Amino acid sequence: MSERMTAQKLKESKGQEPQAWLTAYDFTQAQLAEEAGIDVILVGDSVGTTAMGYDSTLPVTLDDMVYHARLVRRGAPKTMMVADLPYLSYTTPEQALQSAARLVKEALADAVKLEGGRRVLKQVDALILNDIPVVGHLGLTPQSVHAMGGYKVQARTHQAMADLVDDARALHDHGVCSVVLEGIPDRVAAYVTEAIGVPTIGIGAGNRTDGQVLVFHDCLGLSSRYPKFAKPFANLRQIILDGMGAFVSEVRSRSFPDDSHSYHVTDKEWETFWNRQPGR
Ligand code: KIV
Repeated sequence: MSERMTAQKLKESKGQEPQAWLTAYDFTQAQLAEEAGIDVILVGDSVGTTAMGYDSTLPVTLDDMVYHARLVRRGAPKTMMVADLPYLSYTTPEQALQSAARLVKEALADAVKLEGGRRVLKQVDALILNDIPVVGHLGLTPQSVHAMGGYKVQARTHQAMADLVDDARALHDHGVCSVVLEGIPDRVAAYVTEAIGVPTIGIGAGNRTDGQVLVFHDCLGLSSRYPKFAKPFANLRQIILDGMGAFVSEVRSRSFPDDSHSYHVTDKEWETFWNRQPGR
């Protein structure tokens, strides 16, 4: 990546080379993402399930998001960082502004992401009016897991498709710099991509969006199970298990640490020390 992406450049990148977004939650992950040339790092509230051990994203707090976004910012100072507004942190325009302000001021986020379409337009307006770039998120929105009755592919009926397109157009008209489309049929995502003037970033939305985002653990093979749409591009889980297993076995057999991993003193110093021990 040559230059750091900004919300403005992101908007203008519509129709150019597809973008690769990745989630990250800590310093090391962010450093690696930046070195690999990831276009945009998303500090997703998926931190709740990937790094905090929750069953859903619902328990993630704004404090959690600020903390993880700060780690990521330090690891990837040159990469655009979008941070999620967690569940119930943007129920009103005022609350959305206060929550987003923390992500921007304390963690130096370049933009915030929130879930929902027409129902969150007042929140989007409040943020954009205060110069906080916003990324939308439509389709399978994990914060609505209860309302959706589970993590189910969305926009499969003609009415749901029409609603999603209207939501995407409304977000676009209110000034978002990008829209994440999650868990929707590929044809619907392609249609939305044609219908709006800002980049769509897909996850489980086929390959005709303006870019793709994956969760760090799914992308690198760290997860224990994978949704249909996720492709592990490496098998870090196995590599880590092999490494840890080798460590355990070398410790138990005393083959680690060997001489090359140990510190030494000179014979002279040692002998002097030894001869000075009581009883010598
Ligand atoms: O929290 C997250 O990781 C996300 C992506 C799945 C888009 O919102």
